[in-house]
Amino acid sequence: MRHWPLTALELTTPDLTLRLPTDAELDELAQVAADGVHADDAVCFPQPWASGPPEERARNVLQNHWWARGDWARHNWRLLLAVFRGEQVIGQQNLSARDFAVTGEARTGFWVGQQFQGQGFGTQMRAAALALAFDGLGARRVTSTAFAHNTASRAVSSKFGYRPNGVHRVAVGDVAVDAHEEVLEQADWPSYAPRTPVEIIGLPICMSLFR
Ligand SMILES: CC(C)(COP(=O)(O)OP(=O)(O)OC[C@H]1O[C@@H](n2cnc3c(N)ncnc32)[C@H](O)[C@@H]1OP(=O)(O)O)[C@@H](O)C(=O)NCCC(=O)NCCS
Repeated sequence: MRHWPLTALELTTPDLTLRLPTDAELDELAQVAADGVHADDAVCFPQPWASGPPEERARNVLQNHWWARGDWARHNWRLLLAVFRGEQVIGQQNLSARDFAVTGEARTGFWVGQQFQGQGFGTQMRAAALALAFDGLGARRVTSTAFAHNTASRAVSSKFGYRPNGVHRVAVGDVAVDAHEEVLEQADWPSYAPRTPVEIIGLPICMSLFR
């Protein structure tokens, strides 16, 4: 798409490709969410978008992607990438920032369809987001926030050497949950980067959208 250069952006890891989905692919991603992102009683996100009935989870995915594109601004952007393993969509990787040109700080978020979890994909997805942030965009730090009990998400962060950056108590519905923020500094990235090779394609024409 000529006038939305982000459609040219592609990140590849040994097993995965991350890129903006077409609407047909977005529908596939929505179906992965409908099939299940976490156990019914799990609390994984501040906005419990994946906790409702399947059709609601699917619609939340569609609307979230359309909203993120419509609301995009250089001072406040949210890149929501679909993750493909071959032809199969398996999940979503986010990278977002406010005033990135000034702060150099970005944050990540991710989810993998339940049927695809525990196979190392979340780790490769995070590596791709970190490579885009540090190597591609020149980030100075990247944060990730996970609820205290979210062992898988926190395990991924610890593989990359994130350090604790404070705990916030947040309300998810009527339940109070501790959200642990962790941060990876630019100086620490080179020690972890070689473990998952990431190729970034199509970034130069997108650069002015990020900073
Ligand atoms: C978090 C999430 C994206 C991770 O994706 P994934 O593909 O399952 O991640 P990986 O397979 O790369 O790695 C998960 C790591 O967590 C570890 N892990 C998972 N559950 C664990 C548990 N109960 N105890 C200890 N370690 C655990 C795995 O062993 C693995 O580490 P390893 O590779 O060293 O063995 C995925 O679990 C998910 O989508 N969860 C639901 C949504 C969610 O919580 N999103 C994040 C919100 S902050």
